[in-house]
Amino acid sequence: METLELTGKVHDEKRQGEAFAPFAVEPLIYKKKFYIESYGCAMNFADSEIVASILSNEGYGATKNFEEADLVLVNTCSIREKAEATVRKRLTEFKKAKQAKRGMLVGILGCMAERLKGKLLEEEKLVDLVVGPDAYRTLPALIKDAGTGQKGVNVLLSREETYSDIAPIRLDSNGVTSFVSIMRGCNNMCSFCVVPFTRGRERSRDAFSIFKECEELFNNGYKEVTLLGQNVDSYYWVDEQKDMIVTFAKLLEMVANISPSLRVRFSTSHPKDITDEVLFTMSRYENICKSIHLPVQSGSTRLLQLMNRTYTREWYIAKVDRIKEIMPECGITSDVIAGFCTETEEDHDDTLSILEYSKYDMSYMYFYSERPGTLAARRFTDDVPLEVKKRRLDEIVKLQNRISRESNLRDVGRTFKVLIEGNSKKSENDWAGRSSQNKVVVFPKGNANLTKGDYAFVMVTSSTGATLLGEIVGKSPD
Ligand code: SAM
Ligand code: SF4
Ligand code: F3S
Repeated sequence: METLELTGKVHDEKRQGEAFAPFAVEPLIYKKKFYIESYGCAMNFADSEIVASILSNEGYGATKNFEEADLVLVNTCSIREKAEATVRKRLTEFKKAKQAKRGMLVGILGCMAERLKGKLLEEEKLVDLVVGPDAYRTLPALIKDAGTGQKGVNVLLSREETYSDIAPIRLDSNGVTSFVSIMRGCNNMCSFCVVPFTRGRERSRDAFSIFKECEELFNNGYKEVTLLGQNVDSYYWVDEQKDMIVTFAKLLEMVANISPSLRVRFSTSHPKDITDEVLFTMSRYENICKSIHLPVQSGSTRLLQLMNRTYTREWYIAKVDRIKEIMPECGITSDVIAGFCTETEEDHDDTLSILEYSKYDMSYMYFYSERPGTLAARRFTDDVPLEVKKRRLDEIVKLQNRISRESNLRDVGRTFKVLIEGNSKKSENDWAGRSSQNKVVVFPKGNANLTKGDYAFVMVTSSTGATLLGEIVGKSPD
């Protein structure tokens, strides 16, 4: 598990963004201090920025030191058991800090708050506040309640809330790349997944508020936005006044048209929903990045059915073929689960072979963790022994590492347009950035007059693990 700094810390099991730098809130005089720690997916990080905005309006400024905070918040994830265990451990540490600082309030936000509701407050007395993902607007009132010893709990899910009118405060931004939420919730009901229960029904955010947020980011010097949703391809927004329907392809086009210098990424695509219209829109715009996160989960049609993914192995393979046909240069990444209920060695072999076929640049790989209340927990037995799950996961990881290495070797000798995000982690003499395909590229600064947020043409000379190494062959005007 990676650990990165946010306003305090970001713990992320499935990191989709990169490199957060120091917290960037205007130096106003704040009456109180808050500390926020975020876990889980990019959507949780984006939510923490909404929360920061709501708190800043209440006179709270951020601190990186939880011991001096008046309010300590943990934005949590429930996707796997381990994610919840990490948060529980952290909450016991905060409980101690609370004993040392009079008046400190500790709150739990996000998916674990939604799943466990008042349990952490009432039974385990670990927190003062419990606020679900759709209830952040009520935080100020809940803080007041908790401050007077009342229960600060709101875990109501909404069918409408998208926080579209709240301007997020960018936490620990690198000033170049940013997440922008375009929808909330999920209607898909994959049988292993807790998200539909913790995030509620799918709803799309007002297209014009998304456009405005992206435009403002660009005007403030940002060069890349990642449009976020659990299933971005089912984005659908209707403006009844203008009699206008905005699909995901249309939204991509709107954002891409802000400027050719603004890169557009998106995550995550459900294979069943990504359309030709989206693929052709991507191919038409140079600034829509040629990278698709297309989680397969399993290569076995039988297991895909049990997972309720609504596609077969053949259907998924045809989708990969279609992407490569329309955009041969497009990078594809995936999520894979090892050891789902009833998985046999043959099913596992099907997963290994679909990895080989799809040639993913990178995958996030997990072993199955049963989540209470999900369809799988209710219908199936978690019957693959832990050591078998771990062995299969290990085989998947080893294979993916080989495929990633081969993919990087194919890039040697090629030139990529790289958006510079900052210094490389290892040396101030090197820049680090990303190619359109979302690969990290590190190269010496040399004498080229480049800075963070510039684009450079970089020829790849070699690679180490997940990173491409190269040298500048030219500067790009945008
Ligand atoms: N919405 C995305 C999709 O449909 O692919 C991803 C959502 S989920 C936040 C991220 C990944 O976590 C999933 O793609 C899946 O691989 C993994 N995941 C979800 N539930 C899991 C579970 N119970 N055990 C192990 N991995 C799980
Ligand atoms: Fe979970 Fe499936 Fe929704 Fe993704 S699409 S969030 S895996 S239910
Ligand atoms: Fe975790 Fe919730 Fe995201 S369960 S992965 S934080 S939507």
